[in-house]
Amino acid sequence: MTDFRIALLPGDGIGPEVITEATKVLESLGKRFGYNFQFQEAIVGGAAIDKYGVALPDGVLEMCKKSDAVLFGAVGGPKWDDPTSKVRPEQAILGLRKGLQLFANLRPVEVMPFLMDASPLKKEILEGVDLVVIRELTGGLYFGKPQKTWTTSRGRRAVDTMAYSEGEIARVVRVGFELARGRKKRLASVDKANVVETSRLWRQVVNEIAPEYPDVQVEHVLVDTAAMRLIQRPASFDVIVTENMFGDILTDEASVLAGSMGMLTSASLGTRRTRRGTFGMYEPIHGTAPDIAGQKKANPIAAVLSTALMLRYSLGLPREADVIEDAVKRVLNAGHRTVDIAVQGDKVVNTVEMGDLIAAEVAK
Ligand code: IPM
Ligand code: MG
Repeated sequence: MTDFRIALLPGDGIGPEVITEATKVLESLGKRFGYNFQFQEAIVGGAAIDKYGVALPDGVLEMCKKSDAVLFGAVGGPKWDDPTSKVRPEQAILGLRKGLQLFANLRPVEVMPFLMDASPLKKEILEGVDLVVIRELTGGLYFGKPQKTWTTSRGRRAVDTMAYSEGEIARVVRVGFELARGRKKRLASVDKANVVETSRLWRQVVNEIAPEYPDVQVEHVLVDTAAMRLIQRPASFDVIVTENMFGDILTDEASVLAGSMGMLTSASLGTRRTRRGTFGMYEPIHGTAPDIAGQKKANPIAAVLSTALMLRYSLGLPREADVIEDAVKRVLNAGHRTVDIAVQGDKVVNTVEMGDLIAAEVAK
């Protein structure tokens, strides 16, 4: 029996509901293949603010560092939305990324054929979409100092700082090249080099690394153009690599291509090696969805597919990752849908039923 230590951070809203289904599927997989997943859970986000007064309580980072991987739900909600508050649920996710040095965020976007009707884009445009955005996750505007608001004689003023070192750029750009190499060998580096200084450095670093990967075709795309092309010709992208804020915005845009956010997942990777892979944090990208929390309406598929990424990247179990992904496809092919991806005439199942169906498929 091989043991794996998994830190569970369910968070707020639908986070706990979908993480419960994800662990159910992992347990089913463990039973079949002889793995023992030891789950250790901690409270983060708004729930932690209510209980401890902070979004990322002491000890959570340590617990994560002792694990092989982290499964994260989502944090936030209207209850903690006061912009003047010093404690915010989002501090949990930002603190985890920084504290665990998870600098590369992989967000794959595939369009499942049956979901094409759920997307606002035409079928012809969605045909063949299969891309991955790699977002730099621990630098840029979200972490640069100074970041503050102050009062001047002419009123209030605020500043954020966008800063990148060449080392920070190079390590994430290399993840992009490596990933492209294993796919269609096309890398689009997205920047704003016509205006922004950090983007000019970004572009230089990409050009300096490119000769190490002669088999990968590189193009530089300005972020505004990239935003347009994601809607006009999304299938023209394979791997996109970009800095933190551009990646935040473009990945929400890209998620629309897939028809439902309830299907999309992400992996945040650093450099620490685990026994069989790279340490990482895995999360569905849909957020807390407070409007449907507690109603068993949430789609657990993104959380379940997050566990497949975890098996592949952190636990060194690619075959078992395929088992989970295939199980999800079989359940969907059999016509089962949660309400977010259902069209008229579909059999609608709730969160728990969807988890049960996938877990049963995994056990076969
Ligand atoms: C995301 C989210 C986070 C981000 C928020 C919750 C801080 O939007 O993961 O994309 O902006 O990074
Ligand atoms: Mg975002």
